[in-house]
Amino acid sequence: MEIKEKYKDYFKGKKYNITTFGCQMNEHDSERISYILEDLGYTYTEIREEADFILFNTCLVRENAELKLYGQVSSLKKLKKAHPEKIIAVSGCMMQTSTAREVIVSKHREVDIVFGTKNINSLADLIYRYLETGERVVDVSTDDVKDDFEKYNSTNNFQAYVNIMRGCDNFCSYCIVPESRGREESRRPYSIIEEVEYLASQGFKEFTLLGQNVNSYGNKSNDGFTFPELLNRVAKIPGVERLRFTSSHPKDLSDELIYVMRDNDNICNYFHLPMQSGSNEVLKKMNRHYTIEKYIERANKLKSEIPGIALSTDIIVGFPTETEEDFQATINACKEIEFDSAFTFKYSPRPKTVAAKMPTIDEAIVQDRFQRLLDELYPIFNQKNKEYIGRTVEVLIEGESKNNTDILTGRTDTFKLVHVKAPKDLIGQIVKVKITDNTSFTISGELVN
Ligand code: 5AD
Ligand code: SF4
Repeated sequence: MEIKEKYKDYFKGKKYNITTFGCQMNEHDSERISYILEDLGYTYTEIREEADFILFNTCLVRENAELKLYGQVSSLKKLKKAHPEKIIAVSGCMMQTSTAREVIVSKHREVDIVFGTKNINSLADLIYRYLETGERVVDVSTDDVKDDFEKYNSTNNFQAYVNIMRGCDNFCSYCIVPESRGREESRRPYSIIEEVEYLASQGFKEFTLLGQNVNSYGNKSNDGFTFPELLNRVAKIPGVERLRFTSSHPKDLSDELIYVMRDNDNICNYFHLPMQSGSNEVLKKMNRHYTIEKYIERANKLKSEIPGIALSTDIIVGFPTETEEDFQATINACKEIEFDSAFTFKYSPRPKTVAAKMPTIDEAIVQDRFQRLLDELYPIFNQKNKEYIGRTVEVLIEGESKNNTDILTGRTDTFKLVHVKAPKDLIGQIVKVKITDNTSFTISGELVN
Protein backbone atom coordinates (compact mmCIF):
# COMPACT_ATOMS: atom_id res chain seq x y z
CA MET A 1 0.00 0.00 0.00
CA GLU A 2 1.22 3.46 -0.91
CA ILE A 3 1.31 5.68 2.19
CA LYS A 4 0.05 9.23 1.68
CA GLU A 5 3.05 11.56 1.34
CA LYS A 6 1.73 13.91 4.02
CA TYR A 7 1.63 11.13 6.63
CA LYS A 8 4.90 9.36 5.80
CA ASP A 9 6.47 10.62 9.05
CA TYR A 10 3.31 10.42 11.12
CA PHE A 11 3.28 6.61 11.36
CA LYS A 12 7.01 6.27 12.13
CA GLY A 13 7.59 4.69 15.55
CA LYS A 14 3.85 4.51 16.27
CA LYS A 15 2.43 1.45 18.03
CA TYR A 16 -0.90 -0.35 17.91
CA ASN A 17 -2.80 -2.71 20.18
CA ILE A 18 -5.86 -4.82 19.36
CA THR A 19 -8.27 -6.50 21.78
CA THR A 20 -10.38 -9.15 20.07
CA PHE A 21 -13.67 -10.49 21.41
CA GLY A 22 -15.64 -13.42 20.03
CA CYS A 23 -15.05 -16.17 17.53
CA GLN A 24 -12.27 -17.27 15.17
CA MET A 25 -13.86 -15.21 12.42
CA ASN A 26 -13.22 -12.13 14.53
CA GLU A 27 -9.68 -13.29 15.38
CA HIS A 28 -9.06 -13.54 11.67
CA ASP A 29 -10.50 -10.09 11.02
CA SER A 30 -8.02 -8.79 13.61
CA GLU A 31 -5.22 -10.48 11.65
CA ARG A 32 -6.36 -8.57 8.58
CA ILE A 33 -6.54 -5.29 10.50
CA SER A 34 -3.07 -5.88 11.92
CA TYR A 35 -1.72 -6.37 8.38
CA ILE A 36 -3.11 -2.97 7.32
CA LEU A 37 -1.77 -1.18 10.41
CA GLU A 38 1.71 -2.65 9.95
CA ASP A 39 1.62 -1.74 6.29
CA LEU A 40 1.08 1.87 7.36
CA GLY A 41 4.10 1.66 9.69
CA TYR A 42 2.62 0.81 13.09
CA THR A 43 4.31 -1.87 15.20
CA TYR A 44 2.49 -4.08 17.69
CA THR A 45 2.59 -3.60 21.45
CA GLU A 46 1.03 -5.86 24.06
CA ILE A 47 0.57 -2.91 26.38
CA ARG A 48 -2.68 -1.18 25.52
CA GLU A 49 -1.89 2.09 27.33
CA GLU A 50 1.37 2.44 25.44
CA ALA A 51 -0.26 2.16 21.99
CA ASP A 52 -0.96 5.13 19.69
CA PHE A 53 -3.76 3.23 17.95
CA ILE A 54 -5.99 1.24 20.30
CA LEU A 55 -8.62 -1.01 18.75
CA PHE A 56 -11.43 -3.14 20.17
CA ASN A 57 -12.76 -5.70 17.70
CA THR A 58 -16.14 -6.57 19.17
CA CYS A 59 -18.63 -9.44 19.42
CA LEU A 60 -22.31 -9.30 20.32
CA VAL A 61 -23.35 -12.92 20.27
CA ARG A 62 -24.10 -12.78 24.02
CA GLU A 63 -24.78 -9.81 26.23
CA ASN A 64 -21.76 -10.29 28.49
CA ALA A 65 -19.32 -9.77 25.58
CA GLU A 66 -21.14 -6.53 24.88
CA LEU A 67 -21.05 -5.29 28.49
CA LYS A 68 -17.37 -6.15 28.82
CA LEU A 69 -16.62 -4.00 25.79
CA TYR A 70 -18.37 -0.93 27.21
CA GLY A 71 -16.38 -1.37 30.42
CA GLN A 72 -13.04 -1.62 28.66
CA VAL A 73 -13.71 1.36 26.41
CA SER A 74 -14.80 3.48 29.39
CA SER A 75 -11.58 2.65 31.21
CA LEU A 76 -9.69 4.58 28.50
CA LYS A 77 -11.49 7.89 29.11
CA LYS A 78 -8.68 9.22 31.32
CA LEU A 79 -5.95 8.05 28.95
CA LYS A 80 -7.61 9.78 26.00
CA LYS A 81 -7.95 12.99 28.00
CA ALA A 82 -4.26 12.96 28.91
CA HIS A 83 -3.20 11.92 25.38
CA PRO A 84 -5.72 13.29 22.89
CA GLU A 85 -3.34 12.35 20.06
CA LYS A 86 -3.96 8.65 20.65
CA ILE A 87 -6.54 7.10 18.33
CA ILE A 88 -9.18 4.84 19.88
CA ALA A 89 -11.18 2.68 17.46
CA VAL A 90 -14.02 0.17 17.78
CA SER A 91 -14.85 -2.34 15.04
CA GLY A 92 -16.52 -5.70 14.54
CA CYS A 93 -19.93 -7.26 14.91
CA MET A 94 -21.28 -4.89 17.56
CA MET A 95 -20.69 -1.95 15.24
CA GLN A 96 -22.80 -3.68 12.58
CA THR A 97 -25.94 -3.18 14.66
CA SER A 98 -27.42 0.25 15.12
CA THR A 99 -28.26 -0.20 18.82
CA ALA A 100 -24.73 -1.03 19.99
CA ARG A 101 -23.18 1.47 17.59
CA GLU A 102 -25.46 4.18 18.98
CA VAL A 103 -24.23 3.47 22.53
CA ILE A 104 -20.63 3.95 21.43
CA VAL A 105 -21.43 7.07 19.41
CA SER A 106 -23.56 8.76 22.06
CA LYS A 107 -21.89 7.69 25.30
CA HIS A 108 -18.24 7.20 24.41
CA ARG A 109 -16.70 10.47 23.26
CA GLU A 110 -13.27 8.89 23.72
CA VAL A 111 -13.80 6.75 20.62
CA ASP A 112 -12.41 8.32 17.41
CA ILE A 113 -13.05 5.74 14.70
CA VAL A 114 -15.91 3.26 14.32
CA PHE A 115 -15.93 0.73 11.50
CA GLY A 116 -17.62 -2.59 10.73
CA THR A 117 -16.91 -6.09 9.47
CA LYS A 118 -17.40 -5.18 5.82
CA ASN A 119 -15.07 -2.21 5.42
CA ILE A 120 -11.86 -3.51 6.98
CA ASN A 121 -10.04 -2.93 3.68
CA SER A 122 -10.81 0.78 3.95
CA LEU A 123 -9.20 1.19 7.37
CA ALA A 124 -6.25 3.22 6.09
CA ASP A 125 -8.64 5.71 4.47
CA LEU A 126 -10.68 5.97 7.66
CA ILE A 127 -7.51 6.78 9.61
CA TYR A 128 -6.55 9.44 7.02
CA ARG A 129 -10.04 10.90 7.24
CA TYR A 130 -9.71 11.18 11.00
CA LEU A 131 -6.26 12.73 10.78
CA GLU A 132 -7.37 15.23 8.11
CA THR A 133 -10.46 16.46 9.93
CA GLY A 134 -9.80 15.69 13.60
CA GLU A 135 -13.49 14.73 13.63
CA ARG A 136 -14.74 11.36 14.74
CA VAL A 137 -15.27 8.92 11.85
CA VAL A 138 -18.21 6.49 11.93
CA ASP A 139 -18.36 4.32 8.83
CA VAL A 140 -19.80 0.82 8.54
CA SER A 141 -20.41 0.83 4.81
CA THR A 142 -19.45 -2.05 2.55
CA ASP A 143 -16.07 -1.77 0.80
CA ASP A 144 -15.92 -1.26 -2.93
CA VAL A 145 -12.74 -3.29 -2.86
CA LYS A 146 -13.47 -6.96 -3.44
CA ASP A 147 -11.08 -8.63 -1.07
CA ASP A 148 -10.87 -11.93 -2.85
CA PHE A 149 -7.18 -12.29 -2.15
CA GLU A 150 -7.06 -11.52 1.54
CA LYS A 151 -3.94 -10.23 3.22
CA TYR A 152 -3.30 -10.74 6.91
CA ASN A 153 -0.69 -11.26 9.61
CA SER A 154 -1.06 -14.73 11.02
CA THR A 155 -0.47 -15.16 14.75
CA ASN A 156 2.39 -17.51 13.91
CA ASN A 157 4.02 -18.89 10.75
CA PHE A 158 2.56 -22.39 10.85
CA GLN A 159 -1.21 -22.02 11.42
CA ALA A 160 -3.52 -20.07 9.13
CA TYR A 161 -7.21 -19.21 9.15
CA VAL A 162 -8.74 -18.94 5.70
CA ASN A 163 -12.15 -17.34 5.13
CA ILE A 164 -14.29 -19.31 2.73
CA MET A 165 -17.54 -17.44 3.23
CA ARG A 166 -19.13 -14.68 5.22
CA GLY A 167 -22.55 -13.99 6.67
CA CYS A 168 -25.29 -16.44 7.57
CA ASP A 169 -28.75 -17.26 6.20
CA ASN A 170 -29.95 -19.63 8.89
CA PHE A 171 -31.83 -17.36 11.29
CA CYS A 172 -31.64 -19.48 14.41
CA SER A 173 -34.17 -17.67 16.56
CA TYR A 174 -31.68 -16.73 19.32
CA CYS A 175 -28.87 -15.55 17.06
CA ILE A 176 -27.91 -12.03 16.12
CA VAL A 177 -25.23 -13.03 13.57
CA PRO A 178 -27.46 -12.87 10.46
CA GLU A 179 -28.27 -9.31 11.53
CA SER A 180 -24.65 -8.33 12.21
CA ARG A 181 -22.75 -10.17 9.48
CA GLY A 182 -25.47 -10.09 6.84
CA ARG A 183 -26.43 -12.55 4.14
CA GLU A 184 -24.34 -15.57 3.29
CA GLU A 185 -21.78 -15.11 0.55
CA SER A 186 -19.21 -17.71 -0.56
CA ARG A 187 -15.75 -16.81 -1.71
CA ARG A 188 -14.65 -18.09 -5.12
CA PRO A 189 -13.08 -21.58 -4.82
CA TYR A 190 -10.01 -20.83 -6.91
CA SER A 191 -9.16 -17.81 -4.82
CA ILE A 192 -9.31 -19.97 -1.66
CA ILE A 193 -7.17 -22.66 -3.28
CA GLU A 194 -4.64 -20.08 -4.45
CA GLU A 195 -4.42 -18.61 -0.97
CA VAL A 196 -3.80 -22.01 0.67
CA GLU A 197 -1.24 -22.93 -2.01
CA TYR A 198 0.61 -19.70 -1.35
CA LEU A 199 0.56 -20.12 2.44
CA ALA A 200 1.62 -23.77 2.21
CA SER A 201 4.56 -22.75 0.01
CA GLN A 202 5.52 -20.30 2.79
CA GLY A 203 5.70 -23.18 5.28
CA PHE A 204 2.27 -23.01 6.91
CA LYS A 205 1.22 -26.50 8.09
CA GLU A 206 -2.24 -26.23 9.60
CA PHE A 207 -5.21 -24.58 7.89
CA THR A 208 -8.63 -23.80 9.31
CA LEU A 209 -11.36 -22.96 6.80
CA LEU A 210 -13.77 -20.46 8.31
CA GLY A 211 -17.44 -19.75 7.78
CA GLN A 212 -20.59 -19.38 9.91
CA ASN A 213 -21.94 -22.54 8.28
CA VAL A 214 -19.32 -24.11 6.04
CA ASN A 215 -21.71 -26.91 5.04
CA SER A 216 -23.70 -24.53 2.91
CA TYR A 217 -20.59 -23.28 1.08
CA GLY A 218 -21.31 -22.65 -2.59
CA ASN A 219 -25.06 -23.22 -2.27
CA LYS A 220 -25.81 -19.81 -3.74
CA SER A 221 -23.02 -19.54 -6.31
CA ASN A 222 -22.53 -21.36 -9.58
CA ASP A 223 -18.82 -22.04 -9.27
CA GLY A 224 -19.58 -25.73 -8.97
CA PHE A 225 -17.84 -26.52 -5.69
CA THR A 226 -19.75 -27.88 -2.70
CA PHE A 227 -18.04 -27.80 0.70
CA PRO A 228 -16.94 -31.47 0.57
CA GLU A 229 -15.49 -30.86 -2.89
CA LEU A 230 -13.64 -27.77 -1.74
CA LEU A 231 -12.32 -29.58 1.32
CA ASN A 232 -11.19 -32.53 -0.78
CA ARG A 233 -9.41 -30.18 -3.19
CA VAL A 234 -7.67 -28.18 -0.43
CA ALA A 235 -6.59 -31.42 1.31
CA LYS A 236 -4.65 -32.36 -1.84
CA ILE A 237 -2.50 -29.21 -1.79
CA PRO A 238 1.14 -30.17 -1.08
CA GLY A 239 2.25 -28.96 2.35
CA VAL A 240 -1.21 -29.03 3.93
CA GLU A 241 -0.37 -31.26 6.88
CA ARG A 242 -3.50 -30.56 8.89
CA LEU A 243 -6.84 -29.29 7.68
CA ARG A 244 -9.65 -28.10 9.96
CA PHE A 245 -12.90 -26.21 9.44
CA THR A 246 -15.52 -24.46 11.52
CA SER A 247 -18.50 -24.12 11.98
CA SER A 248 -20.92 -26.74 10.73
CA HIS A 249 -24.69 -26.80 10.97
CA PRO A 250 -26.01 -30.33 11.69
CA LYS A 251 -28.91 -29.91 9.27
CA ASP A 252 -26.57 -29.88 6.26
CA LEU A 253 -23.92 -32.36 7.39
CA SER A 254 -23.78 -34.70 4.40
CA ASP A 255 -22.43 -38.24 4.06
CA GLU A 256 -20.21 -36.89 1.33
CA LEU A 257 -18.44 -34.62 3.83
CA ILE A 258 -17.96 -37.53 6.23
CA TYR A 259 -16.44 -39.65 3.43
CA VAL A 260 -14.07 -36.84 2.37
CA MET A 261 -12.88 -36.59 5.98
CA ARG A 262 -12.47 -40.34 6.24
CA ASP A 263 -10.54 -40.59 2.97
CA ASN A 264 -8.04 -37.77 3.54
CA ASP A 265 -5.53 -38.43 6.33
CA ASN A 266 -4.65 -34.77 6.71
CA ILE A 267 -8.23 -33.70 7.50
CA CYS A 268 -8.27 -33.68 11.29
CA ASN A 269 -10.33 -36.24 13.19
CA TYR A 270 -12.28 -33.58 14.98
CA PHE A 271 -15.77 -32.24 14.43
CA HIS A 272 -17.41 -29.26 16.10
CA LEU A 273 -21.14 -29.79 15.67
CA PRO A 274 -23.31 -27.34 17.62
CA MET A 275 -26.24 -29.25 19.14
CA GLN A 276 -27.72 -26.33 21.15
CA SER A 277 -30.38 -28.50 22.84
CA GLY A 278 -31.45 -32.13 23.17
CA SER A 279 -35.16 -31.32 23.16
CA ASN A 280 -37.09 -31.42 19.90
CA GLU A 281 -39.54 -28.83 21.23
CA VAL A 282 -36.69 -26.42 21.95
CA LEU A 283 -34.85 -27.19 18.70
CA LYS A 284 -38.03 -26.31 16.86
CA LYS A 285 -38.38 -23.00 18.68
CA MET A 286 -34.71 -22.34 17.96
CA ASN A 287 -35.47 -22.83 14.24
CA ARG A 288 -32.65 -25.35 13.92
CA HIS A 289 -34.28 -27.63 11.30
CA TYR A 290 -33.20 -30.97 12.79
CA THR A 291 -34.44 -33.32 15.48
CA ILE A 292 -32.26 -34.70 18.23
CA GLU A 293 -32.66 -38.16 16.65
CA LYS A 294 -31.19 -36.82 13.40
CA TYR A 295 -28.37 -35.12 15.32
CA ILE A 296 -27.49 -38.35 17.13
CA GLU A 297 -27.63 -40.26 13.85
CA ARG A 298 -25.10 -37.80 12.30
CA ALA A 299 -22.83 -38.03 15.35
CA ASN A 300 -22.93 -41.84 15.21
CA LYS A 301 -22.19 -41.84 11.50
CA LEU A 302 -19.11 -39.65 12.13
CA LYS A 303 -17.96 -42.01 14.88
CA SER A 304 -18.45 -45.17 12.84
CA GLU A 305 -16.83 -43.88 9.65
CA ILE A 306 -13.95 -42.10 11.40
CA PRO A 307 -12.91 -44.18 14.40
CA GLY A 308 -11.35 -42.10 17.17
CA ILE A 309 -12.94 -38.86 15.96
CA ALA A 310 -13.43 -36.26 18.70
CA LEU A 311 -16.74 -34.41 18.84
CA SER A 312 -17.37 -31.05 20.40
CA THR A 313 -20.50 -28.98 20.58
CA ASP A 314 -22.25 -25.78 21.67
CA ILE A 315 -25.14 -25.98 24.14
CA ILE A 316 -27.50 -23.23 25.22
CA VAL A 317 -29.18 -23.63 28.61
CA GLY A 318 -32.33 -21.75 29.58
CA PHE A 319 -33.74 -20.99 26.14
CA PRO A 320 -37.20 -19.34 26.56
CA THR A 321 -39.85 -21.87 27.68
CA GLU A 322 -37.26 -24.63 28.32
CA THR A 323 -38.83 -27.03 30.85
CA GLU A 324 -37.07 -29.42 33.22
CA GLU A 325 -38.06 -32.19 30.83
CA ASP A 326 -36.46 -30.33 27.89
CA PHE A 327 -33.34 -29.87 29.97
CA GLN A 328 -33.27 -33.58 30.85
CA ALA A 329 -33.40 -34.34 27.13
CA THR A 330 -30.22 -32.26 26.71
CA ILE A 331 -28.54 -34.17 29.55
CA ASN A 332 -29.59 -37.49 28.01
CA ALA A 333 -28.25 -36.53 24.59
CA CYS A 334 -24.91 -35.54 26.17
CA LYS A 335 -24.71 -38.88 27.98
CA GLU A 336 -25.46 -40.76 24.80
CA ILE A 337 -23.09 -38.87 22.49
CA GLU A 338 -20.20 -38.47 24.96
CA PHE A 339 -18.73 -35.23 23.66
CA ASP A 340 -14.99 -34.67 24.01
CA SER A 341 -15.63 -31.04 24.84
CA ALA A 342 -18.42 -28.48 24.78
CA PHE A 343 -18.98 -24.76 24.91
CA THR A 344 -21.90 -24.13 27.21
CA PHE A 345 -23.86 -20.90 27.35
CA LYS A 346 -26.70 -19.45 29.34
CA TYR A 347 -29.30 -18.08 26.95
CA SER A 348 -28.90 -14.36 26.42
CA PRO A 349 -31.71 -12.43 24.70
CA ARG A 350 -30.39 -10.46 21.71
CA PRO A 351 -32.14 -7.41 20.28
CA LYS A 352 -34.33 -7.93 17.20
CA THR A 353 -34.12 -11.74 17.31
CA VAL A 354 -37.29 -13.85 17.26
CA ALA A 355 -36.44 -15.49 20.61
CA ALA A 356 -36.09 -12.11 22.30
CA LYS A 357 -39.88 -11.79 22.14
CA MET A 358 -40.44 -15.13 23.90
CA PRO A 359 -40.98 -15.33 27.69
CA THR A 360 -37.69 -15.91 29.54
CA ILE A 361 -37.21 -18.23 32.48
CA ASP A 362 -36.03 -17.51 35.97
CA GLU A 363 -32.30 -16.76 36.27
CA ALA A 364 -31.91 -19.02 39.32
CA ILE A 365 -33.36 -21.95 37.38
CA VAL A 366 -31.03 -21.26 34.45
CA GLN A 367 -28.01 -21.07 36.78
CA ASP A 368 -28.99 -24.34 38.45
CA ARG A 369 -29.40 -26.14 35.09
CA PHE A 370 -26.17 -24.68 33.80
CA GLN A 371 -24.28 -26.09 36.80
CA ARG A 372 -25.98 -29.47 36.52
CA LEU A 373 -25.03 -29.63 32.84
CA LEU A 374 -21.37 -28.97 33.66
CA ASP A 375 -21.53 -31.62 36.42
CA GLU A 376 -22.65 -34.11 33.76
CA LEU A 377 -20.21 -33.02 31.08
CA TYR A 378 -16.90 -32.74 32.98
CA PRO A 379 -16.66 -36.41 34.01
CA ILE A 380 -17.36 -37.39 30.38
CA PHE A 381 -14.57 -35.06 29.14
CA ASN A 382 -12.29 -36.53 31.78
CA GLN A 383 -13.08 -40.11 30.76
CA LYS A 384 -12.53 -39.27 27.07
CA ASN A 385 -9.13 -37.75 27.87
CA LYS A 386 -8.19 -40.66 30.14
CA GLU A 387 -8.51 -42.96 27.12
CA TYR A 388 -5.38 -41.25 25.71
CA ILE A 389 -3.15 -42.40 28.58
CA GLY A 390 -0.51 -44.81 27.30
CA ARG A 391 -0.99 -43.73 23.69
CA THR A 392 1.60 -41.91 21.59
CA VAL A 393 0.01 -39.04 19.66
CA GLU A 394 1.18 -36.46 17.14
CA VAL A 395 1.07 -32.92 18.49
CA LEU A 396 1.53 -29.63 16.68
CA ILE A 397 3.42 -27.56 19.23
CA GLU A 398 1.89 -24.07 19.36
CA GLY A 399 3.77 -22.23 22.10
CA GLU A 400 4.63 -21.87 25.76
CA SER A 401 2.12 -22.66 28.46
CA LYS A 402 0.72 -19.49 30.05
CA ASN A 403 1.43 -20.62 33.61
CA ASN A 404 4.79 -22.32 33.13
CA THR A 405 7.15 -21.31 30.34
CA ASP A 406 9.11 -24.59 30.68
CA ILE A 407 6.05 -26.41 29.41
CA LEU A 408 4.91 -26.21 25.80
CA THR A 409 1.33 -26.61 24.62
CA GLY A 410 -0.03 -27.99 21.39
CA ARG A 411 -2.95 -29.87 19.89
CA THR A 412 -3.54 -33.39 18.64
CA ASP A 413 -5.41 -33.73 15.37
CA THR A 414 -8.44 -34.46 17.59
CA PHE A 415 -7.94 -30.95 19.04
CA LYS A 416 -6.91 -32.20 22.50
CA LEU A 417 -4.87 -29.58 24.32
CA VAL A 418 -1.53 -31.19 25.21
CA HIS A 419 1.08 -30.09 27.78
CA VAL A 420 4.61 -31.38 27.28
CA LYS A 421 8.08 -30.46 28.49
CA ALA A 422 10.09 -29.80 25.33
CA PRO A 423 12.67 -27.39 23.90
CA LYS A 424 11.24 -24.18 22.48
CA ASP A 425 12.68 -24.73 19.03
CA LEU A 426 9.98 -27.37 18.55
CA ILE A 427 7.30 -24.65 18.40
CA GLY A 428 5.67 -25.01 14.99
CA GLN A 429 6.72 -28.67 14.63
CA ILE A 430 4.59 -31.80 14.77
CA VAL A 431 6.13 -34.08 17.43
CA LYS A 432 5.25 -37.38 19.07
CA VAL A 433 4.11 -37.31 22.68
CA LYS A 434 3.43 -40.29 24.94
CA ILE A 435 0.43 -39.40 27.09
CA THR A 436 0.80 -40.09 30.82
CA ASP A 437 -1.78 -37.86 32.49
CA ASN A 438 -5.04 -36.00 31.98
CA THR A 439 -7.59 -33.58 33.37
CA SER A 440 -11.07 -32.85 32.01
CA PHE A 441 -9.57 -30.23 29.69
CA THR A 442 -6.00 -31.29 28.91
CA ILE A 443 -3.77 -34.29 28.37
CA SER A 444 -0.05 -34.30 29.10
CA GLY A 445 2.96 -36.51 28.58
CA GLU A 446 6.54 -36.93 27.48
CA LEU A 447 8.28 -36.17 24.24
CA VAL A 448 9.14 -39.29 22.22
CA ASN A 449 12.26 -39.05 20.06
N1 5AD B 1 -27.51 -16.78 23.85
C1 5AD B 1 -26.66 -17.75 24.26
N2 5AD B 1 -25.82 -18.39 23.44
C2 5AD B 1 -25.83 -18.04 22.14
N3 5AD B 1 -25.11 -18.49 21.09
C3 5AD B 1 -25.48 -17.79 20.00
N4 5AD B 1 -26.43 -16.89 20.31
C4 5AD B 1 -26.67 -17.02 21.64
C5 5AD B 1 -27.55 -16.39 22.56
N5 5AD B 1 -28.39 -15.43 22.16
C6 5AD B 1 -24.15 -19.58 21.18
C7 5AD B 1 -24.57 -20.75 20.32
C8 5AD B 1 -23.61 -20.68 19.17
C9 5AD B 1 -22.39 -20.11 19.82
C10 5AD B 1 -21.39 -19.50 18.90
O1 5AD B 1 -22.90 -19.14 20.69
O2 5AD B 1 -24.40 -21.94 21.05
O3 5AD B 1 -23.38 -21.93 18.57
FE1 SF4 C 1 -18.17 -14.11 15.84
FE2 SF4 C 1 -20.81 -13.97 15.96
FE3 SF4 C 1 -19.37 -12.85 17.85
FE4 SF4 C 1 -19.43 -11.83 15.38
S1 SF4 C 1 -21.17 -11.99 16.80
S2 SF4 C 1 -17.62 -12.15 16.67
S3 SF4 C 1 -19.56 -13.67 14.12
S4 SF4 C 1 -19.48 -15.03 17.46
